[in-house]
Amino acid sequence: MEKLVITGGKRLNGEVFISGAKNAAVAIIPAAIMAGGICVIDNLPNIEDVASLRSTLNKMGAGCEYADKHTLKIDSSGDINTCAVFEEVRKIRASYYLLGALLGRYKNAAVALPGGCNFGTRPIDLHLKGFRALGAKVEVSNGIVKLSAEKLIGTQIYMDQVSVGATINIMLASSMAEGTTIIENAAKEPHVVDTANFLNMMGANIKGAGTDIIRIRGVKELHGAEYTIIPDQIEAGTYMIAAAMAGGEVTVKNIIPKHMDSLTAKLAEMGVNIEKDDDSIKIISSGALNCANIKTMSYPGFPTDLQPQMTALLSACNGISVVTENVWDNRYQYVDELRQLGAKITVESRVALIEGVKKLKGAKVSATDLRAGAAMIVAGLSAEGVTEISNIKYIDRGYEEIEEKLSNLGADIIRVDED
Ligand code: EPU
Repeated sequence: MEKLVITGGKRLNGEVFISGAKNAAVAIIPAAIMAGGICVIDNLPNIEDVASLRSTLNKMGAGCEYADKHTLKIDSSGDINTCAVFEEVRKIRASYYLLGALLGRYKNAAVALPGGCNFGTRPIDLHLKGFRALGAKVEVSNGIVKLSAEKLIGTQIYMDQVSVGATINIMLASSMAEGTTIIENAAKEPHVVDTANFLNMMGANIKGAGTDIIRIRGVKELHGAEYTIIPDQIEAGTYMIAAAMAGGEVTVKNIIPKHMDSLTAKLAEMGVNIEKDDDSIKIISSGALNCANIKTMSYPGFPTDLQPQMTALLSACNGISVVTENVWDNRYQYVDELRQLGAKITVESRVALIEGVKKLKGAKVSATDLRAGAAMIVAGLSAEGVTEISNIKYIDRGYEEIEEKLSNLGADIIRVDED
């Protein structure tokens, strides 16, 4: 096991290049098995979740090889095993996208899924409801979801709750259904749009992705395609927040600034200077910022996946901030760790009340999940003294070369073996 050791208090300066979007990659890689041909997917983040999916696809019979460390070539022209019940599949939550992809192409799927996660239950009832509406039979037993259908027939599906995963999964399955499917109250996240664009490049007919209503006219078959994944909105946001908190001048490059609007508006309100360009945002911060209130919402609202990092920032701002988590039931496990660093936070249900302190102080903390780990890094960079972060396997699942990227900005961060 390894840990990250950060000596805080260094200002951050320079440029950081953002990798491809994790949450687009974990949908687009499974989608590629629908092609029945060769797909080349570029700008993939070099992270654990992508490596696990590559290994999964290989075991299923879709040849999946790295052309370089950010490009996968996926060949799904041979026989694909629609039964994905091995270890790697259980490791990643986004394995659920194999369900939609296999059901769409083969009308048959058996996929082992992970149980709960560190921020509460992660139900997939809306995914299953969508599959049933398309005509699939659904069985769940011993952690394995089995789907089968003679044929899938397009229909109108109203999502009770906005769900990224269910929206993408229904798009996948219905791309190869008979007739037209209409998803109402669809998720509008950038990775929903990216997955729809990729499916369209493979020959699907999807319109309206990025709005509340997505129309999918089913096609008989899809074909191989070459595709470049969008930049990671959450990785970009993590570096923007880190720069705001540590102080300095950091240009976050290779991004789509529009995807960052909810964060840039909030940081500007707190006193950060922001300069936007076509594909970059420069953060200029003194590190002494005002408090703010945040409510997480589905896109284009403030992303829940930046909530822990933002809470870290607010814990050393001037005044009292209120954070309301509207997406997940229980996404404050990391607050105990921030308290170790001297943060003054009380949590009541979905609301966190943060009384800003002058400076956080280095301590030993643990990454309780991916974004919680990112929050510990953000906090550690500005804290006085040394912060040691353990359990960093979560961070490696979603952030490419995080200590290299931060070191290039002048941070003092190293990876060492745990004693
Ligand atoms: N929900 C249901 N039933 C379902 C599906 C979702 O009740 O069938 C609820 C969830 O419990 C949650 C809300 O709907 O309260 C939204 O969940 P959503 O389905 O949108 O989440 P997801 O697709 O499972 C993705 C990201 C998460 C991110 C959420 C919200 C991927 C692989 N994961 O999860 O990312 O927090 O959307 O934006 O795309 C992360 O990257 O750290 C991460 C957790």
